[in-house]
Formats: sequence, C-alpha cells, structure tokens
Amino acid sequence: MTQSLRQLIAGNWKMHGTTAFASDLAGSLADKASAAGNNGVDMLLCPPSPLIAAVRGAIGESGIALGGQDCHAAEQGAHTGDISATMLADAGCSYVIVGHSERRADHAEDDAVVKAKAAAAQASNLVPVICIGETLAEREAGRAVEVVTGQLRGSVPEGASASNIVIAYEPVWAIGTGRVPTLADIAEVHDAVRAALADIAGDAEKVRILYGGSVKPENAAEILAVGNVNGALVGGASLKADDFWGIAEAAA
Ligand code: 13P
Repeated sequence: MTQSLRQLIAGNWKMHGTTAFASDLAGSLADKASAAGNNGVDMLLCPPSPLIAAVRGAIGESGIALGGQDCHAAEQGAHTGDISATMLADAGCSYVIVGHSERRADHAEDDAVVKAKAAAAQASNLVPVICIGETLAEREAGRAVEVVTGQLRGSVPEGASASNIVIAYEPVWAIGTGRVPTLADIAEVHDAVRAALADIAGDAEKVRILYGGSVKPENAAEILAVGNVNGALVGGASLKADDFWGIAEAAA
C-alpha cells in the first residue's frame, strides 16, 4: 500500500554553492522537470539560506519545491545567526529539514530540540523533514532499530500526520561515505519506523519515509523499490543536475 505514495526526492545541498552555482543547478533541474511534465515524483531543493532567493527564481513554475536546512524553534528574537520557520516560509519555502545528524552532532541538538523545531515549522505551515539515524557503533551493537524508533518518538511533535511531517532515515555512517546498508537492513528500519508511526502520527500509513545516505543514480532504483521507502534525501549527488535528475528518474 505504501508503495503507492508519491515519492519525494529531496536535495540537501548542505554548505555548498554560490549564487551563480545555485541559479545554474536549479535552473537546469527546472528545465528538466518542466520538459518531463508531471512524472509522478515530487522534487525538493534545500539550499543554504543565502541561496534560497536565487533557487526560488530559478525553479519558477517548474513544480520543484523549496526548503530550508534548519530553523530555530522560536518565531523571532535575539538569536544571532539563526533563522525562523516564518522567515523560510516568507522566502518561499514549503519544507525544512530538522534534526539532520550534522546538526545533532555539530550543534548538540537532541530530540527535544528537534521536536520543538518541527513544531515551529508546522506552525508556519512548513512540512518538517525530520531526520533520524543510528551511528556505526549503534548499528554494530545491534541497536539500529531501537535508536531510530527512539529518536522518532522523541522528535515528532504531537498532532503530526501524513500532511504535516516527512521522516528521513539517514544512517550516520552512510552519509557521504559511499557505504549503504543492505536493502534488507533498509527495509527493516523503514518497516519499524512505519510501525512506530502508528502510535504517534495520524494517517501513519501515508507518512512519507525517505532514505538518505550515499544515494546515487546507480543505486537509487533498488533503494526506492524497497517497501516503505517513499523517497530519498540526497546530499552529494544533489549538487550535480544529471545525478539528481537521474535519482528522480529512478523514482518515477
Ligand atoms: P550524501 O548523499 O552525501 O551521503 O548525504 C546524505 C545526507 O546527509 C542528506 O541529508
């Protein structure tokens, strides 16, 4: 049943790019998306904040969505260097990534912080893409499912449903490493996330659960065909139009 959900292919540009790069990359993706018409796949670009305006201009009416990479839990205030969900919405975003493992590690964000950010996103009518994932040590200790479902329970706000959250499972050890879990391991975690969602989200069977971590055009089709995988959150391969488009085509 969940295989019939529309796949979401999201690009997390992380801290990469300039205005010229952003216009180029988003522009060529917009051209491809417009030429392909409605190919049954949703695409999302999450550039660094200073590049959001350039990407917004370049994607035009192509149907590609725009998202931020993080937001503060507060709507405004004395938080130098931070941006709010309201600002992202005002800038044209409809999604925001929260709880990425790089934020959790670099900025000591725990589940409670991630949950507050996700709630702030929802309050501004953004869909939070809530990231969860185990470390290599946790996987090797046989604790992947326990860790990931624990993060899920701690990070998803009350009142969540299929229309106002996306989950992204990103094993920390698979990010930027070229290492990918076996398809069976991906299936095990995604099935466990789906089951756990039943207790904490409305329309749980319709919540999109993305996989992230070294997704490339070469491995996208087999990963996206795994049960309960409803899209991909792509880092490195989202920085090249042909690679990101190849992943989107694999989802179609
Ligand atoms: P890579 O695709 O570069 O492994 O990054 C995944 C990621 O962290 C996306 O959020």
